[in-house]
Amino acid sequence: MAASGGGPLNGIGFGTWAWGNQLIWGYEPQRDDAVLEATFRQAVASGLNLVDTADSYGTGRLNGRSELLLGRFTAALSAESRAGLCIASKLAPFPWRLGRRGMDRALQASQDRLRGHLRRVQLHWSTARYAPWQEVALLDGLADRVLDGSVAELGVSNIGPKRLLWMHERLGERSVRLSSVQVQFSLLAPGDRDVEALINICRERNIDVLAYSPLAFGVLSKKPGMALSSGTVLRRRIFRRLLPASDGLRREMQVIADRRGASMVQVALNWCRAKGTIPIPGLRSPQQAMDVAAALNWSLLPEEVNRLDQERAACPLRMPANPFQSR
Ligand SMILES: NC(=O)c1ccc[n+]([C@@H]2O[C@H](COP(=O)([O-])OP(=O)(O)OC[C@H]3O[C@@H](n4cnc5c(N)ncnc54)[C@H](OP(=O)(O)O)[C@@H]3O)[C@@H](O)[C@H]2O)c1
Repeated sequence: MAASGGGPLNGIGFGTWAWGNQLIWGYEPQRDDAVLEATFRQAVASGLNLVDTADSYGTGRLNGRSELLLGRFTAALSAESRAGLCIASKLAPFPWRLGRRGMDRALQASQDRLRGHLRRVQLHWSTARYAPWQEVALLDGLADRVLDGSVAELGVSNIGPKRLLWMHERLGERSVRLSSVQVQFSLLAPGDRDVEALINICRERNIDVLAYSPLAFGVLSKKPGMALSSGTVLRRRIFRRLLPASDGLRREMQVIADRRGASMVQVALNWCRAKGTIPIPGLRSPQQAMDVAAALNWSLLPEEVNRLDQERAACPLRMPANPFQSR
């Protein structure tokens, strides 16, 4: 079965880490699946045509759940709605996935869970920090699968400028296009200098930068004075630290949102877009999908971006860096 979608991306996609994750996102199949299907359908209907998932999404016995749900939801779409949709999954370079063919079975398993609709395979992180000798083999192996037509596109994730340059060149030697690099990026993301360099490199080489956790786990959706009333222990811990630290920033976001008749979420996403990235916010309800898609209809003015940059620089705390991020 041919994978869906091959057209241009629309500027905002969405992520599905929460779809199957009980530890951080409190997922419950019976309670959540119907809402998630409605969320998916709304997002696609609203023009969010890039969907991010991973073979490691889904905790414990629910491993692979995000891909399974996406496979089911995508199969139920009309062929017309499927056209133009890019489903991108990340394969984890677990220590037992060794050598050039080390990802082959995982790729097939993802393709099966996604019912043949996987369009872009992404290396979830680089092994540079613990098994550097695996890096070339795994990258070459994924490029093999693009060249033999098993999957249409290739992306990478959680790498910095140095690795990006190297990987881009390695793939280029075999005429395999690097479609995207995915990194944590938001008004509250860490690692400013590296991400800025990464974005510049990507701009010059026509590689999309996918901004993950663009709402800082939802912190950036909260109006000043609001707290997280429910949620898992892990998420509440982040909110307890970041809500007070980002108060000034969120006040400025609120001012801009009110003036533009938009939501703070739209301000956060349009800041990511103004910086040259495609944000992929995690969605859990149709209302969130509609709100997010509305950000496609407007953009921030340069002076608004400047004010947000200033408030961002003044924030005493940022989101924790992903331990899988390498340079
Ligand atoms: N490559 C990697 O290593 C990596 C790492 C992390 C994430 N990702 C990808 O990036 C995606 C997004 O990141 P994330 O899930 O970590 O966090 P995020 O996008 O920063 O935050 C997601 C949360 O924001 C809230 N939200 C979304 N839209 C909203 C709206 N319109 N109004 C109010 N609240 C809204 C929701 O919280 P509530 O539902 O609780 O309201 C949602 O669960 C993931 O799903 C995943 O696909 C990749």
